[in-house]
Amino acid sequence: MKRISVILALLVFVQISSSAQAKNPVYKDKNAPIESRIKDLVSKMNLEEKILQLNQYTAGMNTNVNNIGEQTKSIPAGIGSLIYFSTGPELRNAIQKKAMEESRLGIPILFGYDVIHGFRTIYPISLAQACSWNPALVTEAAAVAGKEANLAGLDWTFSPMIDVARDPRWGRVAEGYGEDPYTNAVFGVATVKGYQGKNLSDPFSIAACLKHFVGYSESEGGRDYHYSDISMQSLWETYLPPFEACVKAGAATLMSSFNDISGIPGSANPYTLTEVLKKRWKHDGFVLSDWDAIDQLMDQGVASDRKEAGYKAFMAGVEMDMTDNIYFQNLKELVAEKKIPMAKIDDAVSRILRVKFRLGLFDEPYTTVVGESSRFLQPESKAVAQKLAAESMVLLKNNEKTLPLTSSVQQIALIGPMAADKQDLLGAWSAHGNENDVESISEGITKEFGNVARINSAKGCDFDGYDESGFAEALSVARKSDVVLICLGEKRGWSGENASRSTIALPAIQEKLVVELLKAKKPIVLILSNGRPLELVRLEPLADAIVEMWQPGLCGGSALAGILSGRINPSGKLAITFPLTSGQIPIYYNMRQSARPTSGKYQDIPTLPMYWLGHGLSYTTFDFGDLKLSASKIKKTGKLTVEVEVSNTGTVAGSETVLWYINDPACSISRPMKELKYFEKKELAAGAKTTYKFEIDPNRDLSYTDATGKRFLEAGEFDVIVNNKKVKFEVTE
Ligand code: BGC
Repeated sequence: MKRISVILALLVFVQISSSAQAKNPVYKDKNAPIESRIKDLVSKMNLEEKILQLNQYTAGMNTNVNNIGEQTKSIPAGIGSLIYFSTGPELRNAIQKKAMEESRLGIPILFGYDVIHGFRTIYPISLAQACSWNPALVTEAAAVAGKEANLAGLDWTFSPMIDVARDPRWGRVAEGYGEDPYTNAVFGVATVKGYQGKNLSDPFSIAACLKHFVGYSESEGGRDYHYSDISMQSLWETYLPPFEACVKAGAATLMSSFNDISGIPGSANPYTLTEVLKKRWKHDGFVLSDWDAIDQLMDQGVASDRKEAGYKAFMAGVEMDMTDNIYFQNLKELVAEKKIPMAKIDDAVSRILRVKFRLGLFDEPYTTVVGESSRFLQPESKAVAQKLAAESMVLLKNNEKTLPLTSSVQQIALIGPMAADKQDLLGAWSAHGNENDVESISEGITKEFGNVARINSAKGCDFDGYDESGFAEALSVARKSDVVLICLGEKRGWSGENASRSTIALPAIQEKLVVELLKAKKPIVLILSNGRPLELVRLEPLADAIVEMWQPGLCGGSALAGILSGRINPSGKLAITFPLTSGQIPIYYNMRQSARPTSGKYQDIPTLPMYWLGHGLSYTTFDFGDLKLSASKIKKTGKLTVEVEVSNTGTVAGSETVLWYINDPACSISRPMKELKYFEKKELAAGAKTTYKFEIDPNRDLSYTDATGKRFLEAGEFDVIVNNKKVKFEVTE
């Protein structure tokens, strides 16, 4: 009797606790550990529910608020993610409500979008941001972009792009941080930090997505989407390091690339997606395919139909299918056929849920609605845009102190197709940037000089075409002015995705305009706005000064004007080499040494580029002392400090970035001529001196990987290089 009552009591207890569990399951308990919540939820999901989580559809293309109901209806409540094109949270919240209330288990949807260099407050393109050499400022910009995106209803951005890009014909060179792996790693990490904050669940944090994994920038001839032939050695030493650094910094997700990596496409590559990313780097978030990348496996010749494409991508390690609907249509059958194990589906779903839990979406699925005026374009956000635009611009040439303009300049000629342009200053991938928010060059200059000089404007010509009918007016404007500012460049659609060019020269009409304006015999300042390095071989000799303003976003006009007036001392340095001509491509600072360094030159042009990475002038002068080592020999486990004293020998304050390079002249795998290992930017008052230090950690800074990714450090001699100064030291066992 006693035993029966104990059993009964136990049964009642089990029933009560399971009904309590059913009412308040572990996955809904915000105090339970995330891993327990995931486990609990996955155990409750059926196969259809799991597969829906692995798909991403789109929403919000139709911005008519009256259609919110229609759009919400068409989206399945259990979908994993949506690319969200709207600028307000209302549609998101309506769709999310459906997911929370109408899906059986109430799983929130993850809303993502391409926020590449700002959401509404548009910053300079990423390539320009790297030229600031100011990662802390880039973190601030990404945090603002993340906040605006978050208030608009987003949880996730498909950024940063950290494809090391050495072919400026490739339009997407604009989207990354230049030609150097270390620079891409540093700015990638800075951006991830800005988006994700300290914690993904913090207010306004959004998840980052590193892209494009991996080697997309190596597409042959700079032709977008093309084959990329990447040796295992360069995969490990050039293309993977920025991803590894950002994964270590906690990047929540990655996007698999379109390119075919030496025969195995990035979106069906078990080596990169599983062996490297998941097993070696232990990434526990998920991989999203690029748009249509799974379907394209058929075009790339590795799948005969959509089902095989889905199978290959999924088994390789792509957890979420962006828009092709291939997973939705095929995974169930592949599981039934026992081709895809259930454990693999569970792992994929768990990875997606992990990101949703970390973002706090289960506990706070909705976006607080605030009015558009407090959502976007806040003064503090624009201040960051202004500062970043100013620090990104690079003074490429400045003969005879043409710049800054002095008070003797009474009349300024402002000529060229970019002078009054707004839209193109936004650059590619400008999210919800609006040209009406952009300050044009002309507006910036009028504000800066309007009270002290007369501004004479003429367009001169268009960006391309053959129409020279504006030349005469431009010349007469130049003749009556004291200085001629010629604003040239690229339209925003000339760089970015699917925007490759066979030559990086500006169209002939723009070059012709400059030749025409020489007739005025006035100092010529070229102002360039573009999304890639340009071929300046014909233009450079014609100009007295050149300012590379890139595509600076909203606040470029006044940042540029500040540089022209001297209110801002330029401090940007190139994060990518400018070839002399397109025929030199590829040319980058960290090339391998040639077998015959003094031979092998081009017969028709010089072999050196126009400007190497690191080039950039200031209105002041900096003197570099000798490099001082704390020791001339260290053990592999030791540390070495190198110092250089830098003095501002000019008459104005300025910021100087010291770029620290390493060279290993003899080792078992040949190394680049020099490799950037560290940089630091500091401001120095006129006449001030400061010491820059680089603490060399041999395991971090002097080691490299072999073709299998194994990192090793060899004893021997190394050089540390700053500007044209070099000092040797030795590493011993
Ligand atoms: C691009 C990605 C982008 C995606 C979604 C693709 O075409 O390659 O960089 O994130 O579209 O817009």
